[in-house]
Amino acid sequence: MSADNSSNPSARNRALDRGEATDVADLHVAVMRERPEPVEGMEPLNLWLVVFIAVLLFWAGSYLTYFSGGFRADEFAESQINPTPPPSVGGGNADDPVSKATREGAIVFNTFCAACHQADGNGVPNQFPPLAGSEWVNAEGPNRIARFVLNGAQGPIKVKGVEFNSPASVMNPFKETLDDKQIAAVLTYVRNSWGNKASLVKPEEIATIRKELASVTTQMNPADVEKLPVTVGGAAGAAPGAASAALTPDKLKEALKKLPADQLKTLLQDVSK
Ligand code: HEC
Repeated sequence: MSADNSSNPSARNRALDRGEATDVADLHVAVMRERPEPVEGMEPLNLWLVVFIAVLLFWAGSYLTYFSGGFRADEFAESQINPTPPPSVGGGNADDPVSKATREGAIVFNTFCAACHQADGNGVPNQFPPLAGSEWVNAEGPNRIARFVLNGAQGPIKVKGVEFNSPASVMNPFKETLDDKQIAAVLTYVRNSWGNKASLVKPEEIATIRKELASVTTQMNPADVEKLPVTVGGAAGAAPGAASAALTPDKLKEALKKLPADQLKTLLQDVSK
């Protein structure tokens, strides 16, 4: 049967005339009415799905921006999660300069120093000297310890009567890593933690020493540093600890007069407690 039978009624009739029992065209009507079978190809995406994915990506991006912690390596460091509460100095006012520097210093310490000196400041026997109770740390001024932090340290050192002199006992320099403010803060923290009690370290003091050490590229030898004055710009002489031994009321008065008024007030309040 020819193809035009279906579209031409007279042809269909003619076909019937030829004795065919069923009209092929009628048989196919149902099939022709149906849509073609779907095939896989480049059909457009459902618009709602596109919108949903766009919103999802936007949300994910925002979430990452707000909660990534700036991708900092120390984001989950103990010091970030639970900064050491500042010791109450001068009546525990959280805004006094020592407490403020101590808070900043705690973060610097836990990031850069705690690996060796330990979070409790006790160091590691035969390797890293303690900062807690150290006569170097508790000296009147930061002139000596600031040099260790700026340039690092190497060579035998006696701390709390114990000598540290193993080849592993080397402190790396922080000149390039930390600025004056950070070093002042970390030293203030070290000088006011774990039972230590010493004065605030000022960024200007660190700047002075940094200038002095500008041309020195080697690590400090504690034996040389010990010959330097304890205070920045102070008089040469006494070994750590010796200062208090030779203290007379007159000398104390002289020293107190040099203190800034606010520090003096804090000190007197502390002493009279
Ligand atoms: C790589 C380990 C290491 C790191 C990190 C380190 N130190 Fe030290 N530190 C030492 C060693 C070792 C000595 C003793 C050096 C020597 O024997 O000459 C020392 C000595 C000291 C001293 C003088 C001795 C004492 O115990 O009082 C001070 C103060 C000090 N470090 C403070 C710091 C501060 C603050 C930081 C962080 C900014 C720091 N250190 C980071 C290993 C380290």
